[in-house]
Amino acid sequence: MIDIHCHILWGLDDGAADMAEALEMARIAYADGVRCIVATPHFTNDWLNVRDVVERKVRELQRALDEAGIAVTVRAGNEVRLESEDFVTRHAEREQFGYLDEGKRFVLLEQRWVEYEPASSKLVKWFKGRGTTPIIAHPERHAFSATIRRCLRRLPTSAPGRKYRSTACWAKTGKRRERSL
Ligand SMILES: [Fe+2]
Repeated sequence: MIDIHCHILWGLDDGAADMAEALEMARIAYADGVRCIVATPHFTNDWLNVRDVVERKVRELQRALDEAGIAVTVRAGNEVRLESEDFVTRHAEREQFGYLDEGKRFVLLEQRWVEYEPASSKLVKWFKGRGTTPIIAHPERHAFSATIRRCLRRLPTSAPGRKYRSTACWAKTGKRRERSL
């Protein structure tokens, strides 16, 4: 099992407090069956955790995991907040944030907490045009979650269509997750 959204890196944002906590998180994940964790520290105006920093931290954590005998592979990613259309495209062009895989097939995006980003649909199309499928992180946690399903219906889909939308919408929710993944 692969965990594609985890704030396991310490000292970068509101994730693990220190390396000891990161190792404990990895131990718990391993016990749950996780064998690969994509470290996804925030990439926002306030927490601009650029790719180079994340990759260095991941290498440090991987060494510690190997030494501790915890058989979990960690790779570098980011949780990219939709601060604005310019924020996302500008940093993408400069390759400042990480994707969920080396082939850049998937990117983890997060809405702002206060409101739905009106350029979301445009940005999804923009990523799709570059061969990347966006995954929307935990939409149910946002204050505007009551309207999120209506918003997501407007997003472009990839064949077979519905699956992407439901996966994006319910990636972190209980029963719906089981149904859609
Ligand atoms: Fe998150």
